[in-house]
Amino acid sequence: MTNEQIQQVVEELKALNAKTAKEVEEARVRFLGKKGSITALFEEFREIAPEYKKLYGKALNVLKQEAIAKINELKEIAEADIAAGGPKEDLSLPGEGFELGSRHPVSIVRQEIVDIFRKFGYDVAEGPEIEDDWHVFGALNFPPNHPARDMQDTFFVSAGHENPVLLRTHTSSVQVRAMEKMPLPIRVICPGRVFRNEAISARAHCIFHQVEGLYIDEGVTFADLKQAILLFAREMFGPDTAIRMRPSYFPFTEPSSEVDVSCNICHGKGCNICKGTGWLEILGCGMVDPNVLEANGIDPQKYSGFAFGMGIERIAMLKWQVNDLRHYFENDLRFLHEFDTALEV
Ligand code: PHE
Repeated sequence: MTNEQIQQVVEELKALNAKTAKEVEEARVRFLGKKGSITALFEEFREIAPEYKKLYGKALNVLKQEAIAKINELKEIAEADIAAGGPKEDLSLPGEGFELGSRHPVSIVRQEIVDIFRKFGYDVAEGPEIEDDWHVFGALNFPPNHPARDMQDTFFVSAGHENPVLLRTHTSSVQVRAMEKMPLPIRVICPGRVFRNEAISARAHCIFHQVEGLYIDEGVTFADLKQAILLFAREMFGPDTAIRMRPSYFPFTEPSSEVDVSCNICHGKGCNICKGTGWLEILGCGMVDPNVLEANGIDPQKYSGFAFGMGIERIAMLKWQVNDLRHYFENDLRFLHEFDTALEV
């Protein structure tokens, strides 16, 4: 052991400048750890001649005490830094707001329609969007060459064979599935997405949503149909609403009718929403054609029923006076935010 050796460690200790808690701990190990430089000096001290012990012993003890003091001091500074510099943010500042999503207007109206028919005792049924010809057309009395089966009107997934696969053009296909599976009497509504090969414009879209309904039991009459639709219209558009039935044609119902409700904006006086007529068309309906009952294994001598179908976007357009169907599918937040408060309904 030499004086120089001790002096070197003294200098190193003086120059020591550890800032973080990690650096301080590393310095402690470097000087005072098992293999540290001061520990090494003490090891050597054991070997030296007795006449030097007093001299070096004092110097080493002073060095060790200084090292411990300096490292403790640095440690305190590092800990104080952590406490002061801790989280830099001002925790008392108000948080940054984040936007909550809200329900889409089509979902809101769909739920309203479903809730009304649930109250009347209807079950909700759903079915596949990719269907076959039989469930969309065949079982519903569409003749083989009906124009709806045309490529111009329907999106086909695979054509050219007996039962082509296609995107359903109405949720009447779910009613067919209900007739196949459910015990009689049947009372179902079928909400869902449908597809038609239409050019997209303010008034038409290739995707839209429907709620269709079906009721089959013994002795169901047109008067029952009319009453069901009237009750629905009053629940949906208000207790003063009147309905008007106009004769129409659908392959799967006979007789068939289109239904208008009295315009709830001008109350019959005539406005630009009802185009001055005082009436708004909302749905198609009719008595289930006996051919349809038969095609689905139901005895038309014993049972009769009615069916109806409406477009959800159309009802939503009337409810909120939306004049362009495309708004429903473009996800423009300015449009969607218009309906935030409708959630509270
Ligand atoms: N399926 C018809 C449509 O998509 C609506 C409808 C359903 C009409 C049931 C009458 C009876 O337009």
